[in-house]
Amino acid sequence: MTHGYNIAVIRGDGIGPEVMQEGEKVLDAVSERENFELRWIEYPPGAEHYLQTGELLCEDTLKELERCDAIYFGCIGDPRIEPGILEQGILLTLRFYFDQYVNLRPVKLLDGVRTPLAGKRPEDIDFSVVRENTEDFYVGIGGRAKGKGKGKKRDELEIKRTLYHIKFGLDIESDADELAYQIGVVTREGCERVMRFAFELARAQGKKKVTSVDKANVLTHGYGFWREVFTDVAKDYPDIDTEFNFVDAICMWLVKNPEWFQVIVTPNMFGDIITDLGAMIQGGLGLAPGANINPDGVSMFEPIHGSAPKYAGKGVSNPIATIWAGALLLENVGEVRAAERVLHAIEAVLREGQVRTYDLGGNSKTSEVGNAIIEKIRAQG
Ligand code: IPM
Ligand code: MN
Repeated sequence: MTHGYNIAVIRGDGIGPEVMQEGEKVLDAVSERENFELRWIEYPPGAEHYLQTGELLCEDTLKELERCDAIYFGCIGDPRIEPGILEQGILLTLRFYFDQYVNLRPVKLLDGVRTPLAGKRPEDIDFSVVRENTEDFYVGIGGRAKGKGKGKKRDELEIKRTLYHIKFGLDIESDADELAYQIGVVTREGCERVMRFAFELARAQGKKKVTSVDKANVLTHGYGFWREVFTDVAKDYPDIDTEFNFVDAICMWLVKNPEWFQVIVTPNMFGDIITDLGAMIQGGLGLAPGANINPDGVSMFEPIHGSAPKYAGKGVSNPIATIWAGALLLENVGEVRAAERVLHAIEAVLREGQVRTYDLGGNSKTSEVGNAIIEKIRAQG
């Protein structure tokens, strides 16, 4: 072995362990072909660990993860735990702690996969969504306030006054309703760095256009600012065309004319939404990978799908999203040839169409898909 990488593995909940097993298997096979070593280091965070110990993600674990070359992440979520606890306490904590400010999600129709958009071919669906990953409505600023009654907190009333009374002229004293608020924050630095990443990605991939997503016609403060920063950043990339799309409009165009898009850069929440749409047009969530990238730090690679508790333990889930995320991990640590091998092997298996899980109309097991991909890697020249 010439060289190696320490890869932290968090398999997570639901179908996480099953799809990750295939991902690790495939990456082991390709590392053997390419003569490098992958040292897997397992970490326990997830629903089970939380239920047993009350711990989500401790400082010590974060410190250890810091020393790894990358994090390979399955999926979290469990019906026994209130929504938001695991998501915020584990996944978002990792993204934020490591400042993985880019969430890169390729949308690419692989040969052999049928897109619901009849008539579209692999060359028509091949773009990347660069999702800002640390700001916007994900900063977690918000709360609830009661208009009247005992126990109302002064600062909550202040916020209500700011948000409602001043802006809309509502009479706060006569308005006894409860309210909840959530505030999105975007910073110049936060916007700029993810936008630069998008332009650089376009250049590196030989693409000619970057599309910026916002809702600057309604959320004028935050997304008007996003638009302003995009205009500034675009000046440094005169070789790349730019356009603005409102988030609602881009949902429509992504379905109607996916071939228009090359690189899309988007604020966090809109990126969350349009990448589920992207996953569908590339054939389904079982195929869609994601990369949480900090170009100067520790990055993390995961399938876009959740933990699918209904299918957990059945061994029928599609591991391709996780395996493709593994390919993104290899590319990120510099093993570009190994990454290409994995993607080509995935494509070969899909093209042949013999081994596929239920979501793609077949009845193969999770492990059969992993094995078929490994066989293709071994057979490559
Ligand atoms: C995703 C997920 C997460 C998000 C959740 C689980 C916090 O939907 O990775 O797209 O909203 O970012
Ligand atoms: Mn999502």
